Amino acid sequence: MNLILMGLPGAGKGTQAEKIVEKYKIPHISTGDMFRLAIKEGTELGAKAKSFMDKGELVPDEVTIGIVRERISKDDCANGFLLDGFPRTVAQAEALENLLNEMNQQVDSVIHVDVPKDMLVQRLTGRRICPTCGATYHVIYNPPKQEGICDKDGAELIQRDDDKPETVTKRLEVNIEQTEPMLDFYRNKGYLFTINGDQEINKVFQDINGKLKDLA
Ligand code: AP5
Ligand code: ZN
Repeated sequence: MNLILMGLPGAGKGTQAEKIVEKYKIPHISTGDMFRLAIKEGTELGAKAKSFMDKGELVPDEVTIGIVRERISKDDCANGFLLDGFPRTVAQAEALENLLNEMNQQVDSVIHVDVPKDMLVQRLTGRRICPTCGATYHVIYNPPKQEGICDKDGAELIQRDDDKPETVTKRLEVNIEQTEPMLDFYRNKGYLFTINGDQEINKVFQDINGKLKDLA
């Protein structure tokens, strides 16, 4: 099953991706996570990505398409994958179509997690992540059992650099502009479905799963 998870920053892509890949046993490919790892490792890719991410801008298409091409060609993607946060521009969507064609594969479904824009700032500024295992929490909506500590491994939670209020506003602006043409691109192909992301986390997953069951 080749899946794409789409939604504005803070819509809950990462949160739902964790659940989808656990259930369907497919690799989770998040371009945001790949860039954050490259930054942590101090690579050239990381330095390049950081200069855009810190400003809330998109990393240039050729860079992003390049890392996705490399990643989905790996053996563990042969039986499917979940793309989270890619594609994010029509040029990226077209590049992905070409790439999958070359591999005799196709996109099976595009899940669009839809959340009213005015809720996203609160979701992003209240997010906390675990630097060790990558788990995502929210200070109000999804708090850890002990304040500031990861439930899974006891690590101290941190805030992402781009979740500061000034960067959040820019990220939302940039992504809102790119999203509509992307939705149209997939709507026209007939495999887009929209899920109401303004519901309790497990209910959102139930709705996604309801659609995916038919494909599995
Ligand atoms: P990326 O890491 O992909 O960030 P994003 O798209 O901005 O999305 P987020 O990770 O912020 O949000 P999410 O939808 O995963 O929400 P989450 O589940 O955490 O990208 C970062 C940057 O990398 C980009 O800005 C760009 O610079 C670059 N980049 C990445 N991909 C690129 C591409 N393809 N092209 C170019 N550049 C690219 O949830 C958010 C919060 O809400 C959490 O605290 C969570 O606990 C809470 N929450 C989740 N669901 C619910 C719910 N149902 N109810 C209440 N709270 C909820
Ligand atoms: Zn952890």
